[in-house]
Amino acid sequence: MGRKSREIAGVDLKELIKALDRAYCDEWLAFYAYWYMAHTVSGRGYEDMGEFLSKIAKDELEHAQEVAERIVELGGLPTNRPANLEKNGNAPYPGVMKKLYDYDEIIKLVEDAEAGAIDVYNKIAKMTFGKDHDTYQLVTHILGEEIAHEEMMENLEEK
Ligand SMILES: [Fe+2]
Ligand SMILES: [Fe+2]
Repeated sequence: MGRKSREIAGVDLKELIKALDRAYCDEWLAFYAYWYMAHTVSGRGYEDMGEFLSKIAKDELEHAQEVAERIVELGGLPTNRPANLEKNGNAPYPGVMKKLYDYDEIIKLVEDAEAGAIDVYNKIAKMTFGKDHDTYQLVTHILGEEIAHEEMMENLEEK
């Protein structure tokens, strides 16, 4: 991002970069938890659950990439050590299911993490609305996917 575009952005850049970095850390932690669960889940129907989790994990990794690139464009640097991901994120590591076949717990873990992500991107969208159009576009795109993730998991709940 050039000097002029930073100037017209009209947002507190430091604050925005920090908010984006927190989201970046959340994405990696979600990716890790989902990926882990995708490859360890067992029990009846585990292949379907594994596939769901893999798909969502892939999206989170993509979000991490998109957010990292935006941070750099804004002149910042995303968190560069795994050990700091939890410290710099919005929420602690989502964690994984205690029993490999406990689908209810998996669904709950993912729904909680997605609800958190929706809040986070909603806040960044408000922060950038009408000011930093590129970041706004990116976070609303990601927000849409987090909403879809939450819905996917809600649809798996036993009715
Ligand atoms: Fe995400
Ligand atoms: Fe998500």
